[in-house]
Amino acid sequence: MNDSIGQEIRELLKLHNAVLLAHNYMRDEVQEIADITGDSLALSMEAAKTKADVIVFCGVHFMAESAAILSPDKKVLLPRPDAGCPMADMVTVEELEALKAKHPGVPVVTYVNSSAEIKAHSDICCTSANALRVVRSLAEDELIFVPDRNLGRWVARFVPEKRFVFWEGFCPTHERMTVAAVQQKKSEHPDALFICHPESAPEVSALADHVCSTSGMYDYCRASSARKFIVGTEAGILYKLRLENPGKEFILASPALICPNMKLTSLEDVLYSLQTMSPVVTVAEATRLKARQALDRMLAVPR
Ligand code: 13P
Ligand code: SF4
Repeated sequence: MNDSIGQEIRELLKLHNAVLLAHNYMRDEVQEIADITGDSLALSMEAAKTKADVIVFCGVHFMAESAAILSPDKKVLLPRPDAGCPMADMVTVEELEALKAKHPGVPVVTYVNSSAEIKAHSDICCTSANALRVVRSLAEDELIFVPDRNLGRWVARFVPEKRFVFWEGFCPTHERMTVAAVQQKKSEHPDALFICHPESAPEVSALADHVCSTSGMYDYCRASSARKFIVGTEAGILYKLRLENPGKEFILASPALICPNMKLTSLEDVLYSLQTMSPVVTVAEATRLKARQALDRMLAVPR
């Protein structure tokens, strides 16, 4: 890390009583300086309970919005306001309302990779770490799952008693990981386990020894006696996997596993954000209150 920029960031964080949260896909140097790194679930829980006055969110827009929904009394900064998520943009309120009208009374389970507006029109949220628990917590035997078709279909395999209406959204980064690329890595490293994120295409997940969220990957690789892993998720995950497991080898399943949005935020952006206390992410109060209900229902599902 550039020491002087790191020091300036740390000083400004202290001055503003700010906390720096970074998603597991952020650049190495951003993860290195963060107070807390984690998956979407861990970061939402942290945003809900932190005592800081300011949250600097190194992630993408929907994550900063979730922090603003859960912590309305705090200033939420997103150093790169152009860091969006194409999957979150694959569903509009009008489209979701049209689908709901076709399935009256059917609850909507919304992956947190979605806008605040979409959350506000949903019954409950989920992340990749708790999606199965969230779906199982519902009394209804039918549900609408928005927006990730791959996470939805992966969860559906474990609850055959429930009927799913899927939205056909997807993560372009995970869908760029092909069966051919994974098979190539498997043939080069026959002694490695293959782990992947449930945002991957079903035919790729079918090849995996373990499918889980980013934090689930840390737990799995730490606990496993295997020495080698082919990793099927965004490349940023490798930073902490390698740091925490010095004796183990981690191989990216495909060179296409780079999310351009997750790679936008630099240390310079974080510094500028703290110097200018901008850009601030806010959510209109009426939307925030409704979206908060969906997030609170998710956070109330026992771990
Ligand atoms: P999580 O495993 O943290 O939910 O991350 C998935 C993702 O794609 C975030 O954009
Ligand atoms: Fe969105 Fe996929 Fe990038 Fe996550 S990795 S922000 S789901 S495009």
